[in-house]
Amino acid sequence: MKPPPHRLLLTAILLLRCAMCTFSAKNCPNCGTTPVPYPFSTASTCGDPQYKIRCNSGTLLFDTLNTSYPIMSINPSIQRLVIQPASLLPNTCVTSDYIYEGISLNESLPFNITSDNTIMFLNCTESLLRSPLNCTSTSLCHVYVNSTKGEAPCQAAPICCTFRAGGSSTAHRIRVKDTGCRAYTSFVGLDSVLPVDKWSNPGLAIEWVLPQEPICGSQADCDGNSTCRPAANLSGVRRCYCTGGLHWDPIQGICAHDATCQNDGSCGGSTKTALIAGLTSGIGLTLLVIVISVLLYKRRRRIKEAQERLAREREEILNAGGSRAAKIFTGKQIKKATNNFSKDRLLGAGGYGEVFKGILDDGTVVAVKCAKLGNTKGTDQLLTSQKALDFTRPEDDINLAVYVQRMMEEEKLMDVIDPFLKVKASSLQLETVKALAFLALSCIEEKRQNRPSMKEVAEEIEYITTIATAREVEN
Ligand SMILES: *[C@@H]1O[C@H](CO)[C@@H](O)[C@H](O)[C@H]1NC(C)=O
Ligand SMILES: *[C@@H]1O[C@H](CO)[C@@H](O)[C@H](O)[C@H]1NC(C)=O
Ligand SMILES: *[C@@H]1O[C@H](CO)[C@@H](O)[C@H](O)[C@H]1NC(C)=O
Ligand SMILES: *[C@@H]1O[C@H](CO)[C@@H](O)[C@H](O)[C@H]1NC(C)=O
Ligand SMILES: *[C@@H]1O[C@H](CO)[C@@H](O)[C@H](O)[C@H]1NC(C)=O
Ligand SMILES: *[C@@H]1O[C@H](CO)[C@@H](O)[C@H](O)[C@H]1NC(C)=O
Ligand SMILES: *[C@@H]1O[C@H](CO)[C@@H](O)[C@H](O)[C@H]1NC(C)=O
Ligand SMILES: *[C@@H]1O[C@H](CO)[C@@H](O)[C@H](O)[C@H]1NC(C)=O
Repeated sequence: MKPPPHRLLLTAILLLRCAMCTFSAKNCPNCGTTPVPYPFSTASTCGDPQYKIRCNSGTLLFDTLNTSYPIMSINPSIQRLVIQPASLLPNTCVTSDYIYEGISLNESLPFNITSDNTIMFLNCTESLLRSPLNCTSTSLCHVYVNSTKGEAPCQAAPICCTFRAGGSSTAHRIRVKDTGCRAYTSFVGLDSVLPVDKWSNPGLAIEWVLPQEPICGSQADCDGNSTCRPAANLSGVRRCYCTGGLHWDPIQGICAHDATCQNDGSCGGSTKTALIAGLTSGIGLTLLVIVISVLLYKRRRRIKEAQERLAREREEILNAGGSRAAKIFTGKQIKKATNNFSKDRLLGAGGYGEVFKGILDDGTVVAVKCAKLGNTKGTDQLLTSQKALDFTRPEDDINLAVYVQRMMEEEKLMDVIDPFLKVKASSLQLETVKALAFLALSCIEEKRQNRPSMKEVAEEIEYITTIATAREVEN
């Protein structure tokens, strides 16, 4: 389908408008084929004079205090440029900027060396071993120097060091000197896990501060979208401030429209895209939050269900086989029942303490466990076994269940059983405990269909006890 002619005309006008923006008077012309983005200035008539660079027969050069370096790339959107570090003088481990003591940026200018740089200092003196730099024999610089990509002459120099630039003392300098190191190189965004032949070429990343509005002497220095006014801080400096409805765009170096759209439709598309992007990311985020909430809710409910189930089962177990419900006794009642822990009531002693025979007021015979005072090992054991019995405690029960499950998987179930019980138990009884433990384990399966029904549990318990008693009779 052919687009209608008025559509073509509109496209042409829009293209023209865009061309006008790109070739705004403030941008410098290409250097050979390399674009010179704002705020860089290769001549006094373009760019911002604070960001002066040079164009030398198609190559952009970055001037430092004492010399200059070729610019490998410029990325205006993140305010980074990468320069090519000095190379080695022929057949020595000494860099060509050694006579200038390495790299020194003019600290009055809005540039600094970024922390993306991994710097390798080569041919260093022993004094560097006392520095905070990594000069060990495993330091990355050795790996680099040893590789085919490394600087071959530097293999003869025993000491080298590696560090990340961008600290306060390296934000403007990479220093080489006779009493330190005589050579250096740098890698941007180095992934030290990669083998050296996968590293990118040496480079040194430099970042710049976003430019303010251009300085002006009179209104003639500003375009129709801005007025030349004194800077707000009364420094005597005058700048081209954008006029109504426009704001300073420090990346493009123009007075740009505020986020609202004009009727010409030139930014309608991008607003629509932004709107869609905003909406979709908003919906995506909402969905994510909902999914996470549902998962958390399900998890909480599962834990709560497990707790309730365990509590119910415990109640059933405690109340099973008799009319008597579980009961908490006072110290006085227990003293009375055991005849004040009399020696003739002692049934046995384990690592954790002693067990006494007790007789309650209603004639019921009970066993009373008593922790040894001051024996922390014993107390710990007692706590362990108490914990093992206490399935209704809120967080511990889940962890305990997992713990027991893990021990069973490792065939160490016997380790979680009270040692005192084990000493007295026959191997048949231990087998029975094991069988019951496996049954219990199936009851805490996460998936409902994997858990036995209460009826199945009852049948299984009956089966286990039948075998146990039958074999006891046999013996
Ligand atoms: C290390 O630097 C010293 C001092 O400049 C120089 O004489 C020597 O040749 C360098 N070492 C190597 C292996 O190039
Ligand atoms: C580098 O340039 C600065 C400023 O011009 C000067 O003070 C310094 O002596 C120079 N350093 C070297 C090593 O030439
Ligand atoms: C450093 O930059 C400032 C500001 O542009 C300039 O005045 C000064 O001359 C520069 N210093 C050197 C040594 O080039
Ligand atoms: C020096 O760097 C190596 C290699 O990255 C590393 O294994 C070592 O732990 C570092 N040593 C120190 C003291 O930072
Ligand atoms: C580099 O090579 C030297 C000499 O061949 C060797 O002693 C050293 O262990 C190597 N270092 C690394 C980090 O590969
Ligand atoms: C380098 O300049 C950036 C601004 O472009 C600043 O945020 C950063 O703190 C500076 N780093 C140092 C070490 O001065
Ligand atoms: C005023 O602002 C200019 C840049 O616009 C800056 O160079 C100067 O240091 C500032 N002066 C004061 C006193 O803050
Ligand atoms: C003024 O700003 C508008 C919107 O950014 C732009 O299209 C126009 O080219 C600018 N005018 C001048 C003289 O720079």
